[in-house]
Amino acid sequence: MPVSIVIGSQWGDEGKGRFIDYLSESCDFVVRFNGSNNAGHTVINKFGKFALHLIPSGIFSEKTKACIGNGTVIDLAALITEVEMLEKAGINLKDRLLISPRCHLILPYHKVLEQFYEKARGKDKIGTTGRGNGPAYADKITRNGIRLIDLLDKKQFSEKLTLELSLKNKVIKALGGKPLDLKTIEKTFFTLRAKIMPYVSEPFPYLQDGLKNNKNILLEGAQAIFLDNDWGTYPYVTSSTVLPGGSNAGAGIPPTKINKIIGVVKAYTTRVGEGPFPTELDDLVGKKLRTAGNEFGATTGRPRRCGWFDAELLRFAVQINGFSEMALTKIDVLDNFSEIKICTGYTLNGKQVNYYNGDAKFLTKIKPVYKTLKGWQAKTRGITEYKNLPENAKHYIEEIEKQIGVSIKYVSTGPEREAMIIR
Ligand code: GDP
Ligand code: IMO
Ligand code: MG
Repeated sequence: MPVSIVIGSQWGDEGKGRFIDYLSESCDFVVRFNGSNNAGHTVINKFGKFALHLIPSGIFSEKTKACIGNGTVIDLAALITEVEMLEKAGINLKDRLLISPRCHLILPYHKVLEQFYEKARGKDKIGTTGRGNGPAYADKITRNGIRLIDLLDKKQFSEKLTLELSLKNKVIKALGGKPLDLKTIEKTFFTLRAKIMPYVSEPFPYLQDGLKNNKNILLEGAQAIFLDNDWGTYPYVTSSTVLPGGSNAGAGIPPTKINKIIGVVKAYTTRVGEGPFPTELDDLVGKKLRTAGNEFGATTGRPRRCGWFDAELLRFAVQINGFSEMALTKIDVLDNFSEIKICTGYTLNGKQVNYYNGDAKFLTKIKPVYKTLKGWQAKTRGITEYKNLPENAKHYIEEIEKQIGVSIKYVSTGPEREAMIIR
């Protein structure tokens, strides 16, 4: 199966990074196609523990080329920090990391503007990661973006930056902020330019060549379907397309070439940032999930909101992404629960409704319907064979399969690369 894509099927942080790391051993290319360093992908393997934000999680497997596709927006300073962190850990990036010059850059004014937008929203804030991701994508769409390719030509970069600053500084001043200085930004970006240059190379021809020669290509989705700008819980979403189709725009992979679409799903639900969350547990059970699952953001460190598994959301995720199989993560986090609930659907005023029937406000009004299952209260951490799981854990996994209608091929039982069951 030469081209596979891994997509988050809830509100992010399902364990995509650890799963990509696991799969990448047999891959020739691992490719990011959306998002920025708003993503935080945790990998634990023989090299150590890493939180990756921009560099694909497949970077640890020596023969794999790691590509940052044009659909990704880049904070150069953050990317260089990541490069240096990996080099320090002994990972060779030379000729392995390819960054598309078509990637748009996150500039200092994007972060400043994002802060003002969030502040203006008050209690209705999105709860963004504060990385400038939204304003950078907005500039891309309005054709005000500055790309890595512009930075390769210093004069071109300065001209574009001059125009953008003349616009942005007016807005920043009107909002009560301090205007940004052209020379300071230029100086910073010219220093960053020198450091990133060795890795800037369009991945497109390599990927096309890979397609022609039946190489294994793994596309690494960032964020997740309910954070998708079109289909997520708008406006409490991110600013990119997270769907499998996004890899056509964001990495130049034709949709017809994708053989496998794997959905990663946590054994319960979490969300970081604001927005509706029908199965959220704002009680001791929610706290227990957060503690047992160590549910704190890999990017911002914020505590993640926790709740029961929501099969209504997952059925939608399956429909829209066309998942061919699922990877279920963090089953071990449920080891010490006497009862575990699954939300089997929603009602509104006593009538059955679906996720797609309304907006974010609608989702705050619906009532989740639950099915209660018996917990297993036994240790599953580190188990690598399905037959060794406690009976009730198998029931839980099989109930999820029944509810969502797709088979769960992978079950992870710990954050480490090896803690994985293949069925
Ligand atoms: P991503 O954004 O989808 O890559 O996920 P994150 O890395 O942000 O969050 C997933 C968290 O769960 C990380 O801290 C992982 O180390 C951890 N994790 C992943 N799989 C498992 C698992 O099967 N069991 C446990 N206990 N932790 C896991
Ligand atoms: P990974 O790839 C979880 C959330 C933010 C906020 C909303 C908008 O690690 O799963 P943004 O900074 O993108 O404008 O924030 O989206 N968010 C994520 N939540 N995991 C992520 O990525 C996220 N990326 C963005 O918390 O609610
Ligand atoms: Mg994450």
